[in-house]
Amino acid sequence: MASSEQHILVTGGAGFIGTHCSLQLLQEGYKVSMIDNFHNSVMEAVDSVKELAGPKLAEKLQFHKADLRKIDELEKVFSQNKYDAVIHFGALKAVAESMQHPFRYFENNLIGTINLYQVMSKYNVKKMVFSSSATVYGQPEKIPCVENYPYMPMNPYGRSKVYCEEMGKDIQKADPEWRIISLRYFNPVGAHKSSKLGEDPKGIPNNLMPYLHQVAVGRLPELNVYGHDYPTKDGSAVRDYIHVMDLADGHIAALKKLFTAQDIGFTAYNLGTGQGTSVLEMVAAFEKASGKKIPVKLSPRRPGDATAVYAATDKAQKELGWKPKYGIEEMCRDQWNWAKNNPMGYQKKA
Ligand code: UFG
Repeated sequence: MASSEQHILVTGGAGFIGTHCSLQLLQEGYKVSMIDNFHNSVMEAVDSVKELAGPKLAEKLQFHKADLRKIDELEKVFSQNKYDAVIHFGALKAVAESMQHPFRYFENNLIGTINLYQVMSKYNVKKMVFSSSATVYGQPEKIPCVENYPYMPMNPYGRSKVYCEEMGKDIQKADPEWRIISLRYFNPVGAHKSSKLGEDPKGIPNNLMPYLHQVAVGRLPELNVYGHDYPTKDGSAVRDYIHVMDLADGHIAALKKLFTAQDIGFTAYNLGTGQGTSVLEMVAAFEKASGKKIPVKLSPRRPGDATAVYAATDKAQKELGWKPKYGIEEMCRDQWNWAKNNPMGYQKKA
C-alpha cells in the first residue's frame, strides 16, 4: 500500500490507459489528480473511475481540465497541490495520423512534455513515469525488441516519443535529482472487467481493437486489414498485445521503483507480453470471444507501420518485479464485454 500522503498527477487521465491506471492508483492507496483536455476522451470516463472506486476512494480523486500546451494552465494545477510524482500519458498516439500531420504530433507531444518537465522542475516534483511506445524501435533488425536497441522510429509519432525520452535523459543528467522511468508500451487492448471502463476514441478509430469493437456492434461495416503481404506467418503485421490491466499494474510497479530506487536516473522498460500475434489471428480471437463474424477487407499496408514487433520482457520482470497475467483470450473477452455493454462507448445512446 502507498502512503496516503503520496499524491500522483496523471496527465491524460481521462484517456484509455489513464482511467485504468488512475483507478488502480486509488485502489493502491494513492491520491490522484488527473489532467485532461478531452481531445480524445470524455468526462463520463472520469465519472466511471469514481463510480468503480466507490465514494470513499473517489474523495481522493481530483480532476483538472487543462491543456499541457498551455503552461499557465499547468502552473495553476501545480500551484494547488504538492505532487510526489507524475505519470505522463497525455499525448496523441496514432501512427497514420502522425504521417499526415507531423506538426500536430510535434506540437502536442513535444510542447506538452517540455512544459510539463519545466513546471515539474519549478515545483520541485522530479519523479516521472513517462508513457513511451514500442514505436521508438521502428522495425529492429532482430526481435524481440530489447531496451538497449537503437532508436529507429518510422513515423513522427514514434519520433516524438524518442525526443521526449532524449529530453528526459538530458534533464536527468543536468539535475541528478530527477528520476524518470520510461515505459515502452507495446499494444494496449482489453478493458476493465466491470465493462465500465474501456477505449472509446472520438471519430473513426485508428487502432485495431476499437475498430473491431465498432465493426462487431454494427457501427462500421468491415475491418480493413492493412497489409497482407508482410513476411509473417499469414501476411498480416505482428504486434505484442497487452491487457490494459496488466499495463496499469506495470505503472504501479514503476512508481514504487521511482520512490525506492535512488539511482534509477533515466531508465526505460518494455511493457509487453513477449508474444507476437498477427492482425488476422487477433481478428479470429475476437470472433471467438464475441461469437460475431467480422467482415474483413485485405487492404494495402498502412504507411509508417512496422512488420513485426514484440517485446523482450526480462528487464521489467527482473527489475520491476512485474509480469503480465493475461493472454489474447482474456484481452478479447474483456474487449467484447466492454463493446457489447457499451456499443456507443461512454455515450448513453446511439
Ligand atoms: N490495423 C488494421 N486495421 C485497422 C487498424 C489497425 O489492420 O483498422 C493493423 C495495423 O496496420 C497494425 C496493427 O493492426 O498492423 C496494429 O495497429 P494499431 O493501430 O492498433 O497499433 P500500432 O501498432 O500502430 O500502434 C499502437 C499504438 C501506439 C503504440 C504502438 C506500439 O497506437 O500508441 O501500438 O506498437 F505505441
